[in-house]
Amino acid sequence: MSEYVQRVSRLPESLLPRLPHLDIELTERCDNDCIHCCINLPAGHAAARAREMTTQQVMGIMDQAAGLGCLQVRLTGGEPLLHPEFEQFCDYALSKIPRMQLGLWTCLPEGKEHLRDAIVRTFGDNAYLRLWEADLI
Ligand SMILES: C[S@@+](CC[C@H](N)C(=O)[O-])C[C@H]1O[C@@H](n2cnc3c(N)ncnc32)[C@H](O)[C@@H]1O
Ligand code: SF4
Repeated sequence: MSEYVQRVSRLPESLLPRLPHLDIELTERCDNDCIHCCINLPAGHAAARAREMTTQQVMGIMDQAAGLGCLQVRLTGGEPLLHPEFEQFCDYALSKIPRMQLGLWTCLPEGKEHLRDAIVRTFGDNAYLRLWEADLI
């Protein structure tokens, strides 16, 4: 927990955000097979793709998080880069939520290298990358 979040968490209850933290799981799909993972259906899993939130739903959740003063909003999955609207979510998140409060968990799957600029632009140091992929950024 950052020093900033710790300081905020000591504020009187009346000043605390109603939603301190939010992880948005954009997809249950992932190309990897980490032994501990509980959310990695195959990348081409049609039923999992059909269950994913629509673009409007994800944006609506970001609106609500911003309205509630959420301190940290992270995009995750499964593998969030597999979501076809990922770049649009980055731009929308930046338009609603301060950059320092955004975060991303990803393993930078093959074929998604073109998203590098959007990731750096949106999340900067708050992109949590798998170490064996980190040299792509
Ligand atoms: C599910 S992954 C999704 C984002 C991306 N694919 C990644 O691995 O960073 C997000 C985080 O959840 C962790 N995780 C996966 N399965 C878990 C489990 N069963 N219990 C606790 N953490 C888990 C992963 O290790 C990773 O740090
Ligand atoms: S990379 Fe992430 S989502 Fe994929 S299997 Fe590993 S922990 Fe799960």
